[in-house]
Amino acid sequence: MRITLQGLAARHPAAAAASPPALKPLTLTIAPGEQVAIIGPSGAGKTTLLYALACALEPATGRLELDGVDPWLLSVAQLQKLRGRLFLAPQTPPLPPRQRVITAVLAARLPQQSLLASLRSLFYPTHIAEAEAALTRFDLAGKLWNRVDRLSGGERQRVGLARALISKADLWLVDEPLSSLDPSRAILAIDALTQSARDCGATLITTLHQVDVATRFPRVIGLRDGELQFDLLAHEVTPERLAALYAQHEHELLGAPPAPGDDGADGKPAAAMYCR
Ligand SMILES: Nc1ncnc2c1ncn2[C@@H]1O[C@H](COP(=O)(O)OP(=O)(O)OP(=O)(O)O)[C@@H](O)[C@H]1O
Ligand SMILES: [Mg+2]
Repeated sequence: MRITLQGLAARHPAAAAASPPALKPLTLTIAPGEQVAIIGPSGAGKTTLLYALACALEPATGRLELDGVDPWLLSVAQLQKLRGRLFLAPQTPPLPPRQRVITAVLAARLPQQSLLASLRSLFYPTHIAEAEAALTRFDLAGKLWNRVDRLSGGERQRVGLARALISKADLWLVDEPLSSLDPSRAILAIDALTQSARDCGATLITTLHQVDVATRFPRVIGLRDGELQFDLLAHEVTPERLAALYAQHEHELLGAPPAPGDDGADGKPAAAMYCR
C-alpha cells in the first residue's frame, strides 16, 4: 500500500479536540512493501502518527492518502472496507477474558469475513493450520489451544504479531511490539515480523524504542517533539544522529529491560492483547 502524507498534523487519540496537535505537519511518502521503523523519545508522537495512518484519527490539518485515496473523503462503508486492509496492533490492546490463542489469532481475519463466517469461526475455528503456521513463525507452536490470559507477557506480544499474518492486510502498523521481550527474543520476533511482511507483500511500519532493532529495518524515521528529525536508510543512522534525537532522554537509548515475569510462561496476568 502506498502512503502519502502532505502536511499531516494530528492529535493523540486521547487528547482534547482543542489541544495543539502532538504530531506537527509532516510530509513523506512510503512505497508499497516498504519496511519502516519509527523511533524517538517518549512523547515524540510515534503512536499518534501510527493511529493517523490507521485512519483511527482524523488529521487536524493536512492530508493522508492510502493508494492515492484520501480515506476521510470516503463514505462510511468505503472507509470500513479500507480499514479491512489495515492491521493495527496497539501497544496495550484489549483482551477478551479467557479467549484461546486460536480465537485471538483468527479474530484478525474478521474484517475480511462475512458476519456469518465470523460468528461460525468463534465456535468452530477454521484456518487452524494457517494460525498454527503463523504462531510457529513466532516460536509459539503448541500454544494454539492455550488461554491467552495464561501466557506470559512476551508470549502474548508474539501472539499479537502472529495475528498480522492472518489479517491479510496490505498495511501493518505495529506499536512497540517488543516491550515485553528480552533482547534476543526481540531480534527473533522482529526478524519473523519483517520476513512475514515481505512474504505477504505488506507494507510494515513499526514504532520502536530499541534503536538497535530499528536499524534492522531498511528505513528509519526519527521523530522528536512531534517533528521529523530524520528520514534515513538504516546505515545512515549514525550515533551522532541518535544522540541528537534522544538528547536529554539518553536513558531511553539504553532501553528498558522487560518487566519481571515477562516472556516466561508464569501465568501472571499482564497487558491485554489486541482484538481486531
Ligand atoms: N492520554 C493523552 N491525553 C492527551 N494527550 C496525550 C495523551 N498521551 C499523549 N498525549 C500527547 O501526545 C503527544 C504524543 O504522544 P504519543 O503517545 O504519540 O508519543 P509516543 O512517541 O508514542 O510516546 P511513547 O514512546 O511514550 O509511546 C504527547 O507528548 C502528549 O503531548
Ligand atoms: Mg507510543
